[in-house]
Order: sequence, then C-alpha cells, then structure tokens
Amino acid sequence: MKCSTVAGLVVLLLAAGACAPHPGADVPFLVTPPEVVEQMLKLARVGPADVVYDLGSGDGRLVIAAARDFRARGVGVEIDPKLVAQSREYARRAGVEARVTFHEQDLFQADLSAATVVTLYLTREVNLRLRPKLERELAPGTRVVSFNFDMGDWEPASMLRVDINGRTTPVYLWVVKPR
Ligand SMILES: C[S@@+](CC[C@H](N)C(=O)[O-])C[C@H]1O[C@@H](n2cnc3c(N)ncnc32)[C@H](O)[C@@H]1O
Repeated sequence: MKCSTVAGLVVLLLAAGACAPHPGADVPFLVTPPEVVEQMLKLARVGPADVVYDLGSGDGRLVIAAARDFRARGVGVEIDPKLVAQSREYARRAGVEARVTFHEQDLFQADLSAATVVTLYLTREVNLRLRPKLERELAPGTRVVSFNFDMGDWEPASMLRVDINGRTTPVYLWVVKPR
C-alpha cells in the first residue's frame, strides 16, 4: 500500500472517532460492536473448555465477553498500556478477573500455544503477516475468527455477514488443520 493511501486511511479512521495509534501499534484502536462480539464467539463455538486469545485486545471486550457469557478463559494481548489498564478494570467490574489475563505486549511476540480460539480485528495486511505465526504455533483444531478482514488464500471454514449501520461486514472462521 502506498504511504499516501495509509495516511489517508489513518485520517479517515481518526475522523471516524478512532484514537491515534499507540507507538509501535500496527493498527489503531477501534472497537468491535457488542453484537458482533457475541456473533464472533458463537461462530467459534466458544465454551467453558476454551482459552480465547484476542490479539490486539483493545478495551478487552472480546476476552471479557468470552469469560462472562461463554464461561471460557481469556487472554488479551495489547500494546497500549492504557488499554491494558482499562481492560483489567472492566474485567474487575464484570467479575471475571480470575478467568482473564491481559498482557502488555506486541502480538507478534506473544506465545499462542495455549490458545484454543484466537480472535482478530486487525487489517488484512496484518492478518497476512500474522498467518505464518498462527499456523506455526496454534494446535490443530484451534479456531481463528476475524472481523472484517480475510487471510488471503487461507480458505475459511465458514463465514457470516453482519449488518453494521446498514453496511454488511464479513466475519471469517478458520480451523487450524493437522500438520
Ligand atoms: C481495531 S482494534 C481491536 C480491539 C479489540 N480486539 C476489539 O475487537 O474491539 C486493534 C487493537 O490492536 C492493538 N494493536 C495494534 N498493533 C498491535 C501489536 N503489534 N501488538 C499488540 N496490540 C496491537 C491496538 O492498540 C488496538 O487496540
């Protein structure tokens, strides 16, 4: 992507209310709408035996919903310390702090081997950079769900379309294959 296109995208995101990206962040903070959070976790069939990792966990909403509404354990990985602190406070208020952990960390440095579900709201370009790490570290059968952005030629196992303010947006599900 050309720099001018990236700059234009950032200006558009800021105009849409996104916070300025934290230094080192690959994408700015934007939230997944609550109804989409629920649909993502349902699409991945999250349950009490799962460990749900949200890579770039923002204010912690995916991780907290997984613990509160689906009885899973959750791990958030987020580069912005303010968002990590906010996530911990929201988890405390939701009464799920014992079942969730938030790491202040670059998602590309995180150990993903304990995940049974990974949730993503990044960009297509970041998904594509992340894909080799997902394929290397995730156990076969791990489900990966991405809001809005695909994984190139990694064929999804299923997909749904959600309506957000009259705009249809895809949610993708992949299942890591046996190696
Ligand atoms: C679009 S937001 C999604 C937030 C949350 N997952 C959600 O769906 O509501 C992306 C988040 O990823 C974080 N982020 C961007 N690059 C990152 C990186 N390299 N490592 C960890 N977090 C990152 C940003 O700070 C931001 O909070």
